[in-house]
Amino acid sequence: WERPDSRPIRQRLLVVANRLPVSAVRRGEDSWSLEISAGGLVSALLGVKEFETRWIGWAGVNVPDEVGQKALTRALAEKRCIPVFLDEEIVHQYYNGYCNNILWPLFHYLGLPQEDRLATTRSFQSQFTAYKKANEMFADVVNRNYEEGDVVWCHDYHLMFLPEYLKKYNNKMKVGWFLHTPFPSSEIHRTLPSRSELLRAVLAADLVGFHTYDYARHFVSACTRILGLEGTPEGVEDQGRLTRVAAFPIGIDSERFIRALEVPQVQEHIKELKERFAGRKVMLGVDRLDMIKGIPQKILAFEKFLEENPSWRDKVVLLQIAVPTRTDVPEYQKLTSQVHEIVGRINGRFGTLTAVPIHHLDRSLDFHKLCALYAVTDVALVTSLRDGMNLVSYEFVACQDSKRGVLILSEFAGAAQSLGAGAILVNPWNITEVAAAIDQALNMPHEEREKRHRHNFEHVTTHTAQQWAEFFVSELNDTVIEAQQRTRK
Ligand code: G6P
Repeated sequence: WERPDSRPIRQRLLVVANRLPVSAVRRGEDSWSLEISAGGLVSALLGVKEFETRWIGWAGVNVPDEVGQKALTRALAEKRCIPVFLDEEIVHQYYNGYCNNILWPLFHYLGLPQEDRLATTRSFQSQFTAYKKANEMFADVVNRNYEEGDVVWCHDYHLMFLPEYLKKYNNKMKVGWFLHTPFPSSEIHRTLPSRSELLRAVLAADLVGFHTYDYARHFVSACTRILGLEGTPEGVEDQGRLTRVAAFPIGIDSERFIRALEVPQVQEHIKELKERFAGRKVMLGVDRLDMIKGIPQKILAFEKFLEENPSWRDKVVLLQIAVPTRTDVPEYQKLTSQVHEIVGRINGRFGTLTAVPIHHLDRSLDFHKLCALYAVTDVALVTSLRDGMNLVSYEFVACQDSKRGVLILSEFAGAAQSLGAGAILVNPWNITEVAAAIDQALNMPHEEREKRHRHNFEHVTTHTAQQWAEFFVSELNDTVIEAQQRTRK
């Protein structure tokens, strides 16, 4: 992602995230092919013209040999990416273990691992050690690439120790940390054996950001209740040093989605989908196949709706795109079989020789197909049990300006705070309520759909990813300047 203009470089922004926004495939001993994956963070930073961005992170592949590492480093440099090499054991303990088996479920209110508590407690320590070790490795790469005046922006739950380690290297570094997941109630966070160390490590940052005000409030409460520090309207204070804590709700690059709908290939997909599902209302779910997304609950709610509304059985179809993720973690493997079992049962129960009520796909769709699918959808179902923000809800809205479909949205997704007035909000655990929401959405009069859509479309197109990134980084710069002024006084 080259800068689209040729203005002079003003300030370098080092974006540090567990995963680089590329997928790397080895083609030979010293050759790699790279493909950019345009996730939310990439599109957010693509539009940011103020800064010269560098990415630091793991390329998602194990490269044990020096020749391969050097070749990958060279290839990535062309994409302004700098790799952190993690070996298989670290990935297993840090990424599969501490990040995705401990922090991820805990931050989404699913608790610490339940099974075989003793074994978990024993492995917990080694996973935590690996987590710190991995964070040290990231810090080392950042430090080697840091130049005076750079801004360092650390992302997500994988890198909670990074602010502390970076400040140890250089106390003058401007360090921001942003969490893309919820931060749970302090009562949940306090169950974590390493609760205090993690909080203290994050507090080393100058600015700490969350998607919603509630997550920021939970974080400040955890610092006051668990660490006994002082919470102020600005953030958390420890012996005269302030860590600013604030909410910075992310958005999407809405223009990219709106423009895509004009692309002939997308128009063609739209036509095909309309023909394929003629005479039926289309309901859509797009999720990573993750416990937090509430996919089984959503499908069971759809079953209840079909059960209670026989007249709809041959007039509606649910398309569920479930993108495989973290497939080495046992909980995710169990979820895949569970979802397959439920879908199979419901299709057996309500399917006919020519049609099934649920089309379930275990794979991702390319961008153009996804936009087409959003555009033909009548009702989108986002029923996360917890979700930091949920940008699928934003993407759906961006693609719906001609159809004005209905969004059913979990009240436990961060997006409920911004799209709540336009969506039908539901408690995803309450299957009866979700089934009733499906009924309401499918029967909603045009004027009401129009009103709700207007509200959401206005929000999605005015609160973009670019604004989010620019706002965070400029707040980080200001925070550091204010802190310097305070210490001079
Ligand atoms: C969530 C996290 C991201 C992560 C993404 C995909 O959105 O907040 O940090 O990159 O899931 O998960 P993965 O484990 O495949 O990177």
